[in-house]
Amino acid sequence: MSLKSISLTLVVAIFAVLESTFMINPNPSLILKQLIELGFTIDAHLYYHHHNKHPSKGKLVNICDDFPPDIPPPDNNTTSTLCVDPNGCCNFTTVQSAVDSVANFSQKRTIIWINSGIYYEKVIVPRTKQNITFQGQGCTSTAIVWNDTANSSHGTFYSGSVQVFSNNFIAKNISFMNVAPIPGPGDMGAQAVAIRISGDQAAFWGCGFFGAQDTLHDDRGRHYFKDCYIQGSIDFIFGNAKSLYQDCQLISMANPVAAGQRMINGAVTAHGRSSKDENTGFAFVNCSLGGTGRIWLGRAWRPFSRVVFAFTSMSDIIAPEGWNDFNDPTRDQYGF
Ligand SMILES: *[C@@H]1O[C@H](CO)[C@@H](O)[C@H](O)[C@H]1NC(C)=O
Ligand SMILES: *[C@@H]1O[C@H](CO)[C@@H](O)[C@H](O)[C@H]1NC(C)=O
Ligand SMILES: *[C@@H]1O[C@H](CO)[C@@H](O)[C@H](O)[C@H]1NC(C)=O
Ligand SMILES: *[C@@H]1O[C@H](CO)[C@@H](O)[C@H](O)[C@H]1NC(C)=O
Ligand SMILES: *[C@@H]1O[C@H](CO)[C@@H](O)[C@H](O)[C@H]1NC(C)=O
Ligand SMILES: *[C@@H]1O[C@H](CO)[C@@H](O)[C@H](O)[C@H]1NC(C)=O
Ligand SMILES: *[C@@H]1O[C@H](CO)[C@@H](O)[C@H](O)[C@H]1NC(C)=O
Ligand SMILES: *[C@@H]1O[C@H](CO)[C@@H](O)[C@H](O)[C@H]1NC(C)=O
Ligand SMILES: *[C@@H]1O[C@H](CO)[C@@H](O)[C@H](O)[C@H]1NC(C)=O
Repeated sequence: MSLKSISLTLVVAIFAVLESTFMINPNPSLILKQLIELGFTIDAHLYYHHHNKHPSKGKLVNICDDFPPDIPPPDNNTTSTLCVDPNGCCNFTTVQSAVDSVANFSQKRTIIWINSGIYYEKVIVPRTKQNITFQGQGCTSTAIVWNDTANSSHGTFYSGSVQVFSNNFIAKNISFMNVAPIPGPGDMGAQAVAIRISGDQAAFWGCGFFGAQDTLHDDRGRHYFKDCYIQGSIDFIFGNAKSLYQDCQLISMANPVAAGQRMINGAVTAHGRSSKDENTGFAFVNCSLGGTGRIWLGRAWRPFSRVVFAFTSMSDIIAPEGWNDFNDPTRDQYGF
């Protein structure tokens, strides 16, 4: 066996583990972190090549041979497409370089087609790069991963692996992850955001959001999440956006709490509406809520926080008291 075919077999094996555990094991971050620390790049071309074509042992043909011939499609009056592939089979090898090349304030939609792979980079979509779509190949095969924390990045708000400041952002079939160490009880400065969404009219279809404390910074603007998978421990969906989450899976990865114990060690949401004149809030419709720990549905981060769960199934990890008011009873008042 050549060195190349040994590493190929390893990569295939690890990818198979990753695929089979991804949706079942609520904490693939650990697996990923180990992989990344070991210097692995999850190479989907190798993976698919191996599985689909059974190439003769150890003999690798040109890595780009299987690249879809119609990507990127030609530009037209409404849409431009850019392509990102970690092996250099098309326009860009990093997501950020593709974002940087988009014209400022383009009226057209720019689809950034991102091939399968783990993109270990911190990505910023500035306010000027509006109308961008990140099109991944599946939330278990395409991911943008970084590991900043509040401590390492001048505060929680800047710790996002991806930060979107532009309007009309769309993401499809891709995961956003923060693989910083999971905070232990009482740890300070370990908040680690997977994505911050600060533009108006963003939409996420079939996306994954992976982290522990403060995974999804749903900061401001109107946002829609459909068929998404969101993992975290404390306040893992937080911010002052006006958002609808439909058909999503919310998975707590807080430490398990023994039956009969009353301690609470996590919260799904921390909405941040500070005034009665705002109309922001999080609405969860037809979602499911499960995982580990004993957690609140939400903590009222600001005086007028609003969160609604409707037609949502919840496991018994939710503490019966439901909500936490940050020790400010005025935040308990009912009404919209
Ligand atoms: C423009 O290109 C996009 C992406 O390739 C395609 O989906 C769309 O149908 C095209 N529109 C027209 C009017 O050709
Ligand atoms: C595309 O835009 C060009 C230039 O603005 C225009 O001449 C052309 O008719 C447009 N094509 C379509 C299909 O709308
Ligand atoms: C991307 O690659 C395609 C195909 O090679 C090419 O036609 C297009 O001009 C490239 N776009 C950019 C922005 O480099
Ligand atoms: C976009 O604008 C910034 C300044 O705001 C400039 O530095 C950059 O070169 C522009 N990018 C493009 C692709 O035009
Ligand atoms: C592009 O963004 C502008 C400003 O946010 C918006 O008015 C326009 O409808 C967007 N265009 C497309 C094609 O989404
Ligand atoms: C992120 O990962 C790199 C590489 O493993 C490491 O050097 C760095 O300390 C990590 N940062 C944080 C905040 O954990
Ligand atoms: C996402 O991936 C699923 C399964 O891989 C596929 O059926 C679906 O069409 C994709 N959707 C988008 C918007 O890319
Ligand atoms: C963050 O920084 C503070 C102050 O330097 C320190 O006490 C704390 O342990 C750090 N937290 C982590 C998770 O590194
Ligand atoms: C509720 O969510 C489930 C799982 O995502 C989906 O299969 C079902 O169609 C949804 N029901 C409605 C009424 O949208």
